[in-house]
Amino acid sequence: MSHLDHTPSTPGKFKMDKSAYPYHGGRLRWHSSLAKLTFWSFVFIGIIFIFFYRSPSSVSSSSSSSSATTTTSSSSRFHSDPSRRSLRTSSWGGPAWEKKVQTSARIRSRNGFSVLVTGAAGFVGTHVSAALKRRGDGVLGLDNFNDYYDPTLKRARQELLERSGVFIVEGDINDAALLKKLFQVVPFTHVMHLAAQAGVRYAMQNPSSYVHSNVAGFVSLLEVCKEATSQPAIVWASSSSVYGLNTKVPFSEKDKTDQPASLYAATKKAGEEIAHTYNHIYGLSLTGLRFFTVYGPWGRPDMAYFFFTKDILNGKSIPIFEGENHGTVARDFTYIDDIVKGCLGALDTAQKSTGSGGKKKGPAQLRVFNLGNTSPVPVTNLVTILERILKVKAKRNVMKLPRNGDVQFTHANISLAHRELGYKPTTDLQAGLKKFVRWYLNYYSPAGKKADAR
Ligand SMILES: NC(=O)c1ccc[n+]([C@@H]2O[C@H](COP(=O)([O-])OP(=O)(O)OC[C@H]3O[C@@H](n4cnc5c(N)ncnc54)[C@H](O)[C@@H]3O)[C@@H](O)[C@H]2O)c1
Repeated sequence: MSHLDHTPSTPGKFKMDKSAYPYHGGRLRWHSSLAKLTFWSFVFIGIIFIFFYRSPSSVSSSSSSSSATTTTSSSSRFHSDPSRRSLRTSSWGGPAWEKKVQTSARIRSRNGFSVLVTGAAGFVGTHVSAALKRRGDGVLGLDNFNDYYDPTLKRARQELLERSGVFIVEGDINDAALLKKLFQVVPFTHVMHLAAQAGVRYAMQNPSSYVHSNVAGFVSLLEVCKEATSQPAIVWASSSSVYGLNTKVPFSEKDKTDQPASLYAATKKAGEEIAHTYNHIYGLSLTGLRFFTVYGPWGRPDMAYFFFTKDILNGKSIPIFEGENHGTVARDFTYIDDIVKGCLGALDTAQKSTGSGGKKKGPAQLRVFNLGNTSPVPVTNLVTILERILKVKAKRNVMKLPRNGDVQFTHANISLAHRELGYKPTTDLQAGLKKFVRWYLNYYSPAGKKADAR
């Protein structure tokens, strides 16, 4: 007879059986219950330990390797609690690691910078890191390789950067211990902060990832920067989305930005206010760049120009949004090389921070610039250009712009960036998309054996 045969079938039966036990049997049972309690306590403590040990960075890195073979579905993306503090320290540190960090960040040109680039495995981060390295600056990347979109693309960008001598440390900007260590090993002159949870619509599925990276992560980074003996100058990515529901065009830095249409926009706006605070209290030099729909080779698979290309090639229909009364939806598409020039211009004109060790010594620079193309293009025209380049007719599915964070149009006034940074975009959408499609076809060619683009 198995022990399962003693299991009461109903609570009532259990009560009856219990009353039938003699007293000494009860004592024995008490001892065994104590042993069981002790055993389960250990199991419980063990589970808690494992739970806390799995930091966001370790979760993202493990998920990134597992998701490399799958397509990124929204439910599989970064669904660990991203607000947990990272306790993982084993993946960084040690003399060999420090040497790699120092070598990557070593300046190789006269008057060059040593720049910490956060989000270096991202679309913009890869291009900016490569450009800085090319001109002789020291560059160290930092990225948590999360799986918001296919991490194999981030790994491919990492390989590209490694070949040009840029090392990307795998870690989260919320990991204060890691950031402190990096500043101990390298006295960075500049930080190019591009790490963020991007994307407007995903904020409705995973709002905490935006708070984690765009608000808490930014504060964590600024805390470490402000404590440095020689504080770095910081250039960081805000977004055109801060203009939200504004209707006055073109969007100017002087306009109010108090009507964000998405949580993403709200976290970028929060970033601008946080920048003001750290500049005011600690003397950090801070420059925010409001990028307008950046596109190009090595781009982001969640952006329309990217998945339109994929869907047109696969014969799938693509959603074309229109505003109220068939209003045109348009974007100020900006080519990646122009954005990179704007980023370098911002770094080159950034004045030094004035504080040291958490103390302000005088007023410091605080700036915000639009980096756009000043020529908004209706999304229908984007599709027509893609059709021409791909030589495939798109299946257009025209629908109303849903209220999920997207705005109807964006249009940048770039005169301030032109004046102060020498910013002058030179690539039109037709030329830029040609370069993107060339890269796309090569990267996703069967010979490349790359995973699914989305
Ligand atoms: N691409 C655009 O059109 C656009 C427009 C406006 C603003 N921006 C901003 O520009 C920046 C770069 O955008 P992108 O298009 O290259 O996006 P991206 O998603 O390709 O790059 C961001 C990178 O940051 C990393 N990251 C995210 N959270 C992190 C964290 N907590 N710790 C460490 N790394 C983290 C990601 O893994 C990713 O590689 C972002 O701040 C984005 O919000 C981009």
